Amino acid sequence: MTRENTPRCPVTSAAGAPEPDGPTGLPLAWPVVGSTVLYAADPPSFVVRAQRAHGTVVSLPMLPHNPTVQVTAPEAIRRILQGNADNYCRGAYYEAFRLFMGEGLLTLDDAEWRGHRKVVNPAFTPGAVAARAAVTDAAVADLVGRWAGHADTGQPFDLHAESMRLSARVIGHALVGRDLSAEGEEFSRALAVALEAIFKEVGSLEKMLPSFLPTPYRRRVNRARRTLERIVARAARDADEGAGGEVAALLRASELPPDAFRSDLVTLMLAGVETTALALTWTLYETARHPGARDRLEEETDRVLDGRPPGAADLDALTYTAMAVDEALRLHPPVWQFPRQTLEDDVLAGRRVAAGTPVLVSVYGAHRNPEQWKDPDRFDPERFRPGAGQDRDRSAYVPFGGGRRQCIGKRVGLSLLRQTVAAVHARFRLTVADARPPRNGAYITLFPKDGIRVTAEERHR
Ligand code: HEM
Repeated sequence: MTRENTPRCPVTSAAGAPEPDGPTGLPLAWPVVGSTVLYAADPPSFVVRAQRAHGTVVSLPMLPHNPTVQVTAPEAIRRILQGNADNYCRGAYYEAFRLFMGEGLLTLDDAEWRGHRKVVNPAFTPGAVAARAAVTDAAVADLVGRWAGHADTGQPFDLHAESMRLSARVIGHALVGRDLSAEGEEFSRALAVALEAIFKEVGSLEKMLPSFLPTPYRRRVNRARRTLERIVARAARDADEGAGGEVAALLRASELPPDAFRSDLVTLMLAGVETTALALTWTLYETARHPGARDRLEEETDRVLDGRPPGAADLDALTYTAMAVDEALRLHPPVWQFPRQTLEDDVLAGRRVAAGTPVLVSVYGAHRNPEQWKDPDRFDPERFRPGAGQDRDRSAYVPFGGGRRQCIGKRVGLSLLRQTVAAVHARFRLTVADARPPRNGAYITLFPKDGIRVTAEERHR
């Protein structure tokens, strides 16, 4: 089939390509609701089951956006993010993000988006990240100090709460010039509730109730909104007084529409803080339970650091540390999927996807695609040894997305992760205290549903 060309989106001929297959009956689709309920019950495991049963471009019968095409084929991901990126807009699923993020960095398309990205970019360059090194060093040193206390008592502690505290401090400083962990539980709860609400905004039963009903869920959402609004209002005051964070100052001085200050700050808080914290939690969980990897980390940190705390200048030499972080991001990608929508017909990995179809790039599924990853469920940092993985398609690994919409915070996140993982392994040996493996929770981010508790032991006593 050929369609008329438009100046904005040149049409790709989809002639002859078959449409993607997908579940039409049990076990992956139910009558009437299709895959909606099964997907919602355990999204990551559903993604993998659908991939194994129907391939790497799958048509899912899902409400309210039926069909939705799940993509885990590397060539298709590359086409969506790079080769034919002009043919993909944010689309129906990204509408829900506006609930908290308004019109901003994550929700806008094309020229409008470019304007926002250009304004905040200077805060994410290597020089800008290096200029904030003192804040990062102090935050990592405090974490190590607190964990020395945990090691003294031998009591288990919540790994993710610690990761959130670190991330909220370092990223909070870059955004609003303040340690956002000082807001206490309220801030991390607000982020978690917002990320849950955005996910549930698409097709949740809650939405069908009359809007005036103050359900407990709606009260939580409103409270989260008030917390974030309060932080934004204070950041505006700080910026006007010449204080505050680099990102807030850049936005305040910009010529973007007035609402951009709020939209972009909330977007960056929601996109940056929990994601980075989760990556740290999952990395330390995996290294704690794999003695082979743990020994390599201990050897590397002893050799490179020789008893000093790690700093930005050490990161290049901490090769195995980077490999362990990369592998944890493969197995547990904090942003486990992200949406797009076709503007015109396209062909993805040999399958025709009609114009206007919502597409979910499943990072989780791509990272566990057995065609690209041998023994995909196994934690093996060696996959990321420099020079390894030549037989793998580069787009099989997309924890930070790709193309022009690649994560703006990739450098900030990765350097904080590497520095912290090195600091922890230089000093402590962690043991996972929970008897049962963590259960996946998946809204916008992939999180351990019941947290992860660990104990720490000093290595050099
Ligand atoms: C390990 C940590 C992180 C992970 C796994 C992650 C993952 C991602 C992914 C997959 C995307 C692409 C979404 C898409 O294309 O639809 C993205 C975009 C984005 N991320 Fe991150 N992110 C992380 C850390 C951060 C940090 C630290 C910040 C900022 C403080 C941040 C801010 C953003 C923003 C603003 C976007 C939208 C970029 C644009 O469209 O121009 N992220 N992130």
